[in-house]
Amino acid sequence: MDKLRITGGRPLEGKVRVSGAKNAALPILCATLLTDAPLELSNVPALMDVRTMTRLLADMGVEVGAHRDGRLELRARAIANPLAPYERVKTMRASVLVLGPLLARCGQASVSLPGGCAIGARPVDQHVKGLQAMGAKIEIEHGYMNASARRLRGAHIVMDLVTVTGTENLMMAAVLADGVTVLENAAREPEVADLARCLCAMGARIEGAGSAVVRIEGVRSLAGAAYRVMPDRIETGTFLAAAAATGGRVKLLGVAPATLDATLEKLREAGARLALGADSIEIEADGRPQSVSVRTAPYPGFATDMQAQFMALDAVARGAAVITETIFENRFMHALELQRLGADISIQGNTAVVKGVERLQGARVMATDLRASASLVIAGLVARGETLVERIYHLDRGYESLEAKLAALGARVERVN
Ligand code: UD1
Repeated sequence: MDKLRITGGRPLEGKVRVSGAKNAALPILCATLLTDAPLELSNVPALMDVRTMTRLLADMGVEVGAHRDGRLELRARAIANPLAPYERVKTMRASVLVLGPLLARCGQASVSLPGGCAIGARPVDQHVKGLQAMGAKIEIEHGYMNASARRLRGAHIVMDLVTVTGTENLMMAAVLADGVTVLENAAREPEVADLARCLCAMGARIEGAGSAVVRIEGVRSLAGAAYRVMPDRIETGTFLAAAAATGGRVKLLGVAPATLDATLEKLREAGARLALGADSIEIEADGRPQSVSVRTAPYPGFATDMQAQFMALDAVARGAAVITETIFENRFMHALELQRLGADISIQGNTAVVKGVERLQGARVMATDLRASASLVIAGLVARGETLVERIYHLDRGYESLEAKLAALGARVERVN
């Protein structure tokens, strides 16, 4: 299994281009199921999760072109097999995003229940409840959601809690339903809006995506489209946190600054200076950052996907910070690994108190999930000596060429087997 060897202590300096957003690309790939015409995508990141999703789609009969320079063409001329098996869903929970589109296009779908994962329970009750309100019959049998509907019909759905993939699943189901669907308490994440823009380019009628109320008027069929995936705001935030933690100076290109308000505010609080362009962000930080307390919340609040990276920053900051995780119940696994590097962190329930130390020391650590791995990499970059991050297949799921990009910023990072 691959590991990442990091020799820390050098501030990040230089320019780097951010990739397309994983969490926008995954639902957009599923949107191909809604039409028999081709979907031509660009800015699709080369990630393990994207490969898992294209394999899942290919198993169903979708024609998937070569993925080159971020371009990827897909065509679901016919869907032979509307099934998402356990083997795929267990490696990537976002596989449940095929449920809504399959039901809308084929009138049936069989999708494995995702179960739990390293960061906590991952129920899909809101996806199920919404589809049932649209007239679907869903039975849970042998660990699978077996869904059927002759034609979905529009419905007024008030979601009990804010769910990103839940909102996306229901939006994709509603675009081909009979009549109007209104989703209340919808997720406002920019990736939901990006999916809606792609669906509208295919001929869907959607208003309000990116706000808490989304109105979808069903159409008979969708056409193909060419669409460019939005930049990855979590990858952007990860590089910014790394620059702030190491006291560096980095310019990020190809980013969407407007999607990063909460993160940027926290970086300013940490003492970093930021210069925003139309599609660039430059960050400059000297010495140790100031500690910053964060509380995760649905967008536009502070993203749970940035929590681990800020814990690494706080680990070396001046002062103490309180980090509160409100989205997932078990998302502090990285804290135990950060402690192995010398961080001073105490955890009670969903709150972590991080007292900044002057120096971390390199050690062997183990990545437990995608963003936890990113926090260990940041900690490795500031630590004295060598850090070996094991199980970096988690990183490969969500960061494109991370070590090459870090090396371009002057970091001493290498992948070892
Ligand atoms: C998405 C993101 C993930 C991010 C998360 C929260 C993708 C592919 N993944 O995951 O990176 O960390 O949003 O921003 O976009 N819940 C229920 N019932 C449901 C659905 C969710 O109780 O039917 C709960 C979850 O357990 C969790 C919370 O709602 O506590 C938010 O989860 P959700 O927004 O659904 O996360 P994902 O869409 O899976």
